[in-house]
Order: sequence, then C-alpha cells, then structure tokens
Amino acid sequence: MIRRFLTLAFAIIATFTVAMAQNGAPSILPKPTEFKMGNSNSKFILDTKTRIVCKLDDKEAKYAIAEINRIAEEIFGCKLKKSSKVHGANNIIIKYNASLKDEAYTLEITPENILIGAKSAAGVFYAAQTLKQIIPVQAFETPLDLEKVSLPTLKITDTPHFAYRGFMLDCSRHFWDVKTVKEVIDILAMHKMNRFHWHLTEDQGWRIEIKKYPLLTEIGSLREQTTTGHNVGLDGIPYGGYYTQKDIKEIVKYAQERFITIVPEIEIPGHSLGALCAYPWLGCRGEEGNYKTWSYWGVSPQIACAGKESTFKFWEDVLGEVIDLFPGEYIHIGGDEAPRDEWKVCPLCQERIKENNLKNEAGLQSYVTSRIEQYLGKHGRKLIGWDEILEGGVSQNATIMSWRGSEGGVAAAKKGNYAIMTPNNHCYLDYYQTTDRNDELDAIGGYVPLRKAYAFNPYDQLSKDEQKYILGVQGNLWTEYVPTPMQMQYKMLPRLGAIAEIGWSNPAPEKKDTEEFIGRAKELARYYYVFGWNFARHFYEDGVQNGW
Ligand code: ACM
Ligand code: ZN
Repeated sequence: MIRRFLTLAFAIIATFTVAMAQNGAPSILPKPTEFKMGNSNSKFILDTKTRIVCKLDDKEAKYAIAEINRIAEEIFGCKLKKSSKVHGANNIIIKYNASLKDEAYTLEITPENILIGAKSAAGVFYAAQTLKQIIPVQAFETPLDLEKVSLPTLKITDTPHFAYRGFMLDCSRHFWDVKTVKEVIDILAMHKMNRFHWHLTEDQGWRIEIKKYPLLTEIGSLREQTTTGHNVGLDGIPYGGYYTQKDIKEIVKYAQERFITIVPEIEIPGHSLGALCAYPWLGCRGEEGNYKTWSYWGVSPQIACAGKESTFKFWEDVLGEVIDLFPGEYIHIGGDEAPRDEWKVCPLCQERIKENNLKNEAGLQSYVTSRIEQYLGKHGRKLIGWDEILEGGVSQNATIMSWRGSEGGVAAAKKGNYAIMTPNNHCYLDYYQTTDRNDELDAIGGYVPLRKAYAFNPYDQLSKDEQKYILGVQGNLWTEYVPTPMQMQYKMLPRLGAIAEIGWSNPAPEKKDTEEFIGRAKELARYYYVFGWNFARHFYEDGVQNGW
C-alpha cells in the first residue's frame, strides 16, 4: 500500500477533486486521442460497492481486472466484487468492441456506470491506467482508506500511435534487483509502455544465468572493482549480481500481467568481456587474452572470435535458453560498438573472411548477424540489433534500433527494414537534463532536457511510405553513472513521459504543444511522488530541490 505523507512543498491541493488541466479536463499523459468532458455537475461515485462486470472473452482479462483491483486496494484498502451481470447502477462494465484496434480502448464515465470498451485485455489495462490519472491523486496518498471517490463524467476514445513503446535498462554496468526491476515495470505500465528492453550482458558483467555455461554468472557476473569519476580512479570494491532463471521467469510473468513484453539483449560479438573471462576460448586471443570483467566504462577492445565454430555453438546455446525464458517475438543481439581490430590479426577470423568471400571485418560482423538471425528465425524469433548491424549489409528480416541519432533508422526504413527509434540526442535518459551542474547528477555526457525529449519526431526525413517501417520509439537508460534506484528513477522521470507520449499519442510536430505537455507532466509527477517514485524537478519554475 502506498501511504506517503506530503511535504509542504507538495501539499498543493487538499480536496479530493480531480487534478484539472486549464480547460477543466483531467490531466492525462500520454494524451488520449479523443476526450470529451460530460456535464460538469454530474459525477460518478466510485466506492467499495462498485462491481466489475467483465464481458470480455480474453484469457488475459484477469490481468486487466487485477490492475483495476490494485487501484481499488490503494484507495479503499479492498478489492471490488465481480459480477456476471449488471444489477442497477454502480458498475465498471467491460465490453468487447470489435471496431477498436488491438491496444485501444474507450472509457466512458456516466453518473451511473464506468464503461470500458476494448478488443483485447490490453485495452482494458490502458483504460485502467487512464482511470488512475482521473482518480484524484489525493485518493492514493491519504493515510486512511477512503469510502468513496467522486469522478467527473467524460468520454475518452484512445488508440496508441505506435505498436512498440519501449524503455531499455542497462543491468550490467549497475545491477538492479528483482524488486527494483518490478518497480520499473510498474512505471512503464503507468505510461502505457509495452516493451521492456533488458540489457543483460556487457564487458562489465554478465547478468543472466545460463544453465549450460554456469561460469558466465559464477565468474562473468563479478568485477573486481569499479572506476570512479569519468574513468579516473578505482573504488577497490568488488561488484556483482545476476538474475537466476527463476528470477527471470518471475519478472517475465510480472511484465506479462502488465501487458509488457520483455526484449532481452545478449550482446554479440562485442561488449562481451563478461563472457570472455568466464570462457576465454570464446575470444580471439584465448587463454592469452587474460580476460577480466572490466572495471572501466567505455568500449573494451576485446571481442568474441567469429572464426571458431565453438563461438557460434556458444551463442546458439545461450540464445536457446534465452528463447525458452522469454516468450516475446524479438531477441536483441546488440551488435553496437564491436571493435574489429582483434579480428584483423586473428588467423581464424581472417580465414572465415576468405572462405566466405567477405569484404572485410564489417562483412564478418554481418556474417555473424546473419547466422544468428537465421538461428532465431528457425526458432520463430526475430532479431533486433543496434544500427551498426547495417554496416556490412543486413538481412531484410532484421529490425534496426537507431541510437547514433536517427540516421540508422532512416536508412533502415528507406531500404525496407523495420526500425525502432531511440536516438541518443532525444531518447538517452542517462544524459544530462540540465546545464546547471549544481542541480544535476553526474552523467556520461550529452544533453536531453525534458523539452528536447518531447521534441523528437520519429518520422523526420521519411516519406509516408517509409514511415510504416518505424515500429516505435524507446527511451534508453545506460547505467555507468547510475548506481542507485533513486538515481535511476530521477533519470527516467519525467523524461519517460515524453517518450511515452511520442509513442502513444500522435508524434507529428503540429500536434504538439510543449507547454501544455509540461503542464500534464507536472500533474503526472504528483502521482510519481505519491507512488514513491523519484523524479527530476527541473520543470518547477520555483526551484524545488531535486533529491537523489
Ligand atoms: C549504445 O548506446 N552503445 C547502443
Ligand atoms: Zn578470431
């Protein structure tokens, strides 16, 4: 139960009225497609006697109902009863609506009932997220359970713009325990995001248990120490952590219950020191490589050897277990920042290049990606890679994640490959969000204030025809400079709200009103506060202190 008492700085409204935007409508983020207020005098009273009537024949409907009940428990301290039939008024009636798109919903609040329409349970879940923001935030923060809450009458019809609305968390530079990852999933759910890209392997630590290769976690998850400052000193403190397969199953289920698909990332062929130190034969230099999980940030020069069949066997074995753990259609294989210098001097890699008439080392990376793509395809999965996988040529089936600006995504769409837009100049949530270093945490660099994140146009430079290859958008949080959950949330919020809005609402520049968005972001931040989520406070004009 969330029971947070307000500090003076945030005790702004004391009555249980809905947080109103200036036009009198509740403030909702991401912005719904259509929104009409009812008569300002008519209200629906949500109370402990409100019944849930679900006429949706969807096996996941129970997850959506569970979300409505989590809201009820927060406010009333109890769940709502379910009923198979409508008896009189005071119901939340969930109905199938075939005319709606997959994750879309309608939400109508009348004086008698709350009516939710959807084609699938996901739509009902998103209607519940909207309802959460219509319920006055004070209802969630009161120390005593309430008996009733008054809601305005209204009608919302809401359809997401993009099918892929993601967030990536780096769990390798710093490790996040199961509880913290679940809280991240809660945050994503509230923003109607539906993909959690889980970055699990790195130079600085391998974080996923693989039964066939136990040393990956026994050795590869540990590093002797961690650099301090910007690769200046060393802290002398051993660091480690990993997810058992049981942990992973628990998180996958937790995410599924919130309509979030996990996209696991296993880095191939670079960013692999965690694996190389556990199994040195994976590297071009073998035992002589003297591999160690890295204590520094940056791109290590070591790389997995693409000349050996045993490396491919390893990748396929690992991905085989990953496929069994994660039910989603996409597997991310990294592919970014793979330094190919060791390949240049490795006889086995050079032999592979010659044998396959590859042009150069970029061609060899392309060969690796293509073999992995075929393996995933045989197992019914699709490959995502960072935009570097375009360099030596890439299969038409690969999806490109554009991070070095939007160029990779634009190039992919122009050649008919699907792309996910996560350009560092708008979507890197680990970058600085203010230029005032007295009011900001350390960061790797960059500058993405809230307004810049919101200004991102994923369709820039693309024709109407090419735009259909953009699957969606994603915010990325690399964690070199993010050691605690408080700091992680400070970096995520409120900028995740901007990414969520670009993903869900129409991202066309002419549809955006930055100041109106900032107003809604501030309203949403009241909920962050009550739910105990830290967030950056730079958008308050009156200099409210940040905390981390
Ligand atoms: C990346 O930021 N190296 C994908
Ligand atoms: Zn090699």
